[in-house]
Amino acid sequence: MANVRFSTGDSLPLEMHKVRIVQKLDLPPIERRLEAMAEAGNNTFLLQNRDIFLDMLTDSGVNAMSDQQLAAMMVADDSYAGSATFTKLENKLNELFGMPHFLPAHQGRACEHIIASTLVKPGSIVPMNFHFTTTKAHIMRKGGTVVELLIDEGLKTTSEFPFKGNLDVGKLRHVIDEHGADSIPFVRLEAGTNLIGGQPFSLRNAREVAEVCRAHGIPTVLDASLLQDNLYFIKQRESACRDMSIREITRALADEMDVIYFSARKLGFAKGGGICVRDDALLAKMRELIPLFEGFLTYGGMSVREMEAIVVGLDETMDEDVISQGPQFIQFMTDELVRAGIPVVTPAGGLGCHLNAMEFLPHVPQCEYPAGALAAALYIASGVRGMERGTMSEAREPDGSEAPSQMELLRLAMPRRVFTLSQVKYAIDRIVWLHGHRDLIGGLAFTEEPAVLRFFFGRLRPTSDWQAELARAFRADLGDSL
Ligand code: F0G
Repeated sequence: MANVRFSTGDSLPLEMHKVRIVQKLDLPPIERRLEAMAEAGNNTFLLQNRDIFLDMLTDSGVNAMSDQQLAAMMVADDSYAGSATFTKLENKLNELFGMPHFLPAHQGRACEHIIASTLVKPGSIVPMNFHFTTTKAHIMRKGGTVVELLIDEGLKTTSEFPFKGNLDVGKLRHVIDEHGADSIPFVRLEAGTNLIGGQPFSLRNAREVAEVCRAHGIPTVLDASLLQDNLYFIKQRESACRDMSIREITRALADEMDVIYFSARKLGFAKGGGICVRDDALLAKMRELIPLFEGFLTYGGMSVREMEAIVVGLDETMDEDVISQGPQFIQFMTDELVRAGIPVVTPAGGLGCHLNAMEFLPHVPQCEYPAGALAAALYIASGVRGMERGTMSEAREPDGSEAPSQMELLRLAMPRRVFTLSQVKYAIDRIVWLHGHRDLIGGLAFTEEPAVLRFFFGRLRPTSDWQAELARAFRADLGDSL
């Protein structure tokens, strides 16, 4: 996607696609939004889509498909075993990543289940740049411990460092010395590091990590779910890679890895997932689990139509014009919010724009979930649905105490090829309004708290009647405007 200079001097992201299928949206009035938030137990996961204007919850499974993907879906081969569609997908992944084997799975966390079941034992230590919620849950379920080795800069919400997702190689050496290579079944690198604001690692960092792992015989595992943003940032921000094509960067990175898994709900503009494996022995161990938990080896729980769409989507991912759309919209939103003095994660990453709730709501203590409270407040003020990525998304300590997360973010995801710039401008306007009234926003407390992945189903209440106050202020400022 191009950033085009207008004759007025502005530079704006310009969409390199046209919209040919649309879905009508409704923007319910604030009275309804107040009610809907209460019905959803102040958890944006529990809102109904009919009550949502812009759904910025996630980029997972909600990216727009291209005409080419839809066309490919019509020729899918739906044989249960030996589907030609599967072979097409296997060949495409082999072409891009150069890994000899591919095991299909229905989505990213299913891959994590297979990988953890095969490699993690009680007492295992799994170093990584940063955890993802489902990754950590699967490793812990098998008795392993996640050790996060992100560079210190990665946890600074505002920074100019281009690769905040880098893994600290010095810390990795230290962990290997301390625990011994035998207790480390693999080192995981997450592309487009989700929970710290969609931040990339550099190709150079991946190479350094892989070198240390090779020296100790430890396999490297890449979570490629958010690879497309990471590839774009490597090309844009890493001077040594400026003259490489996206395809060349993909291959150079894959060459350093022993296992690559991905959620095709993010990578490939479709739905599904899978694991690419280099080693025959490892393949044999993982392969047994696929028919047991996912489906036969030539579909693994995916629909053949989605597999056809992934094949085309992966090719589209190699096109810089296509993969720049998300990062450029996110950059636009981040720049506008920074200009308005609103605390956001910088530099702008992939996946979405991330508000720093700890600074937005300094008066709300972490045990009252500032990012969750901000998500509820933004929905009430705008009909925009974001996702809490902070303490609510963490599990409690074994003794039941709260584990305050290192970052307290409200994620506003930018599904790829979905929103227009005026919709993004509307979201920015309402965030700016909310920031002007931030003192009105209070905290949340659980009324129903599931023991595992509580952020998905948990229900909460406001700690005071701050939401009604906020709605009153909205009406006073904006009248009957939606
Ligand atoms: N790894 C990363 C980095 C992810 O972001 C996700 C999903 C997964 C693994 C799991 O994949 O959903 O297909 O099972 N992230 C979604 C999100 C849920 O909204 O960020 P999945």
